[in-house]
Amino acid sequence: MNFELTEEQKAIRDLAREFAQKEIAPIAAKIDETGEFPRETVKKLGELGLMGIEVPQEYGGGGLDAMSYVLAIEEVSKVCASHGTIMSVNNSLVCYGLNKFGTEEQKKRFLTPLASGKKLGAYSLTEPQSGSDAGNMKTRATLQGDTYVINGRKSWVTSGPVADYIILFAATQPELKHRGTACFIVDTHLPGFALGKTEPKLGIRASATCEITYENYQLPASHRIGQEGEGFKIAMTILDAGRIGIAAQALGVAEAAYEASVAYAKEREAFGQKIAEFQAIQWMIADMATRIEAARLLIYNAASKKDRHEKFTRDASMAKLFASETAMWVTEKAIQVHGGIGYSKELPVERYFRDAKITEIYEGTSEIQRLVIARSALENK
Ligand code: CAA
Repeated sequence: MNFELTEEQKAIRDLAREFAQKEIAPIAAKIDETGEFPRETVKKLGELGLMGIEVPQEYGGGGLDAMSYVLAIEEVSKVCASHGTIMSVNNSLVCYGLNKFGTEEQKKRFLTPLASGKKLGAYSLTEPQSGSDAGNMKTRATLQGDTYVINGRKSWVTSGPVADYIILFAATQPELKHRGTACFIVDTHLPGFALGKTEPKLGIRASATCEITYENYQLPASHRIGQEGEGFKIAMTILDAGRIGIAAQALGVAEAAYEASVAYAKEREAFGQKIAEFQAIQWMIADMATRIEAARLLIYNAASKKDRHEKFTRDASMAKLFASETAMWVTEKAIQVHGGIGYSKELPVERYFRDAKITEIYEGTSEIQRLVIARSALENK
């Protein structure tokens, strides 16, 4: 397979890299410490066209491909994984779903402001009792006339506290389990919508995550995306695309930790020589480089299958599984290469380690990715 980048793909990668290094790098450590949501830089990401990269230009997006998307996520996450999270949720969990399943009217009304970065989106599937078992949702949407009345509680909503619109999944016929669910686009400014506690997180601390409750929240039926009964399949289809983005985020974090380790190994001395001259360090560097390259190839493979309109569920899971476990492994080794200073907040290496962990959990844990891959392998026998 040929993964040589086109001029357009190189241009978007360079744009994201330059913006991340110039505008995000100076604030990355501070917002990690304070947990402050980076409104200004997120607005600028929108102005640069990085919040709706794959959305057609007629709906305010960049009209680019999935490969361009992963390159941009990788560059931004290399500098700040919190920005990578905010970007990936808006791009793939929100805009991708609206573009794929929305009506023309829904695209004009919701997708255009979201893809152009004028509004911010979130995605809400998880509930306190259902994370991996996503079909087991208790949030109810009951049709009364041409209005849905929604009641329930959602958790772990990334960008929830700041979102204008949320892609919400709720049960319309709970007795039918996952086949009795529907997808909606929620306006967060309507009555009955209430933000719950904000999660105090280990990593990606500048991305805001919260609980949300719906109490007799009324939504016009025109906000339903797809048909009743299609909610779970829409959720899964969207997550397939999202997982490629999280894999690219993990790759960016791993690369940042790797590059810091190489630079430090060439500078730090012990026993009268640079630590890069010790085989113990060289082997860690070699393994880091190899795993990163393998993760990159899996990600590019999944993105290029998506661009060719082939089925990519299994490939997205493989990319996310391997890239997230690579990020965790590489960031842990990066602290080891740095020794004591790697454990200190004076360097960003400990932040990379904390940020890496979530990529093994959200948008499907590593165990769920293995389940998806195993089912695909066994079905094909
Ligand atoms: N695309 C389309 N349809 C799919 C699909 C996919 N990738 N995967 C499954 N389906 C369909 C199946 O074909 C099946 O259809 P039928 O009803 O016609 O038979 C239906 O969905 C049910 O499928 P399964 O029997 O496989 O369902 P399951 O209950 O065994 O669950 C699962 C499968 C893979 C475990 C799924 O529940 C899953 O992915 N869980 C993890 C959820 C997750 O990733 N949550 C993260 C939420 S977002 C987040 O992290 C927060 C954030 O803001 C970033």
